Amino acid sequence: MSGQTPSGPRVLSGMRPTGRLHLGHYHGVLRNWVELQEQHECFFFIADWHALTTAYEEREIIADSVWDMVIDWLACGVDPERARLFIQSHILEHAELHLLLSMIAPLGWLERVPTFKDQQQNLGDKDLMTYGFLGYPVLQSADILIYRATAVPVGEDQVSHVELTRELARRFNHMFGREPGFEDNAEAAAAKMGKKNAKRFRALRRQYQEGGDTEALAEGQALVAGQANINQADRERLQGYLEGGGRTVLPEPDPLLTPSPKMPGLDGRKMSKSYHNTIGLREDADSVAHKIRTMPTDPARVRRHDPGEPEKCPVWDLHKVYSDATTQEWVQTGCRSAGIGCLECKQPVIDAVQAELDPIRERAAQLADDPGYVRDVVDRGCDAAREAAAETMVDVRAAMGLAYR
Ligand code: TRP
Ligand code: SF4
Repeated sequence: MSGQTPSGPRVLSGMRPTGRLHLGHYHGVLRNWVELQEQHECFFFIADWHALTTAYEEREIIADSVWDMVIDWLACGVDPERARLFIQSHILEHAELHLLLSMIAPLGWLERVPTFKDQQQNLGDKDLMTYGFLGYPVLQSADILIYRATAVPVGEDQVSHVELTRELARRFNHMFGREPGFEDNAEAAAAKMGKKNAKRFRALRRQYQEGGDTEALAEGQALVAGQANINQADRERLQGYLEGGGRTVLPEPDPLLTPSPKMPGLDGRKMSKSYHNTIGLREDADSVAHKIRTMPTDPARVRRHDPGEPEKCPVWDLHKVYSDATTQEWVQTGCRSAGIGCLECKQPVIDAVQAELDPIRERAAQLADDPGYVRDVVDRGCDAAREAAAETMVDVRAAMGLAYR
């Protein structure tokens, strides 16, 4: 697989190791990853350097979370035969690309990234007046661009980082995409398509560049895309030559918004560690049942015979995630007529959550007993990631004039 252009989109995403995972991660992120790995080449990584940008004083949490997180991913169905799982800090190339991108990252762009000001205000107890924190989105851009990822599954809050990634890629390609001798190289690449195709390519290029003929552009792009026996570098040269720009050293990724991002927590707010309203993926069955049994309900139901309103009850939010139409109907009528009690109402949710967690807990326990296997998965993932990253860096160094070893 490595060394070749992935045929479909290449998916990349990362997660910060900042504690045990919960159902919010499962519904908001991991289920989506599991689906994506069926269709696409996927790279998923532990963003440990990212965790350090805001939690450099909590190094124990990071170290503890790394392996637990890999176990949780695997327990949820992320499949190491389909996806590469790796640790960011094991691939030093991320740091190199981060450094190189930082040379061309305008300060104004970074200061305008919404998470920069937001987090400085919201994480008030932490010192975020650091160079590393300002550069966070540049590091994230490096993570993405180094794998030439085309699709990046993220939540809403991360879209601005992918946008910045696109802008940095564009800036990079614009500044460095024109390698010395670009035209000669592009002509040589055209010749590799064969006489007839090369002639057609030149004609289409002229039609587009001199006459603005966008149909000729589209036909030229299709012609280049359809060439089986030219390599990725030549393909990019030809695309750039056709369009009148340089070569696309770093392709622009698209954000892939997670389909069901908001898992409700035990109190009706989004499930999140900072709200203390989570159900952990490896939490034992008694504790899970207890947490749901003691969840707040519609405050109007003080006594058993007081009618309630599901819309005012966090338990209803969980029924929306877990229950079928019949059960939902039973809740609606039973609650409003005081026909059912709250504990009764909670039971189907408890059962559904346990049924969901049972296999996860079981697989996680097996994996926790087999650290050698988990390490092996990560080792293999790191090897694949390193190879892909190294390939990009060869092009990046050459484009930036650093190929004079
Ligand atoms: N910033 C992301 C988050 O906080 C984690 C992350 C780091 C990431 N690098 C990435 C996500 C690259 C997607 C792609 O959730
Ligand atoms: Fe909430 Fe169900 Fe009780 Fe109604 S019956 S208040 S929906 S827990």
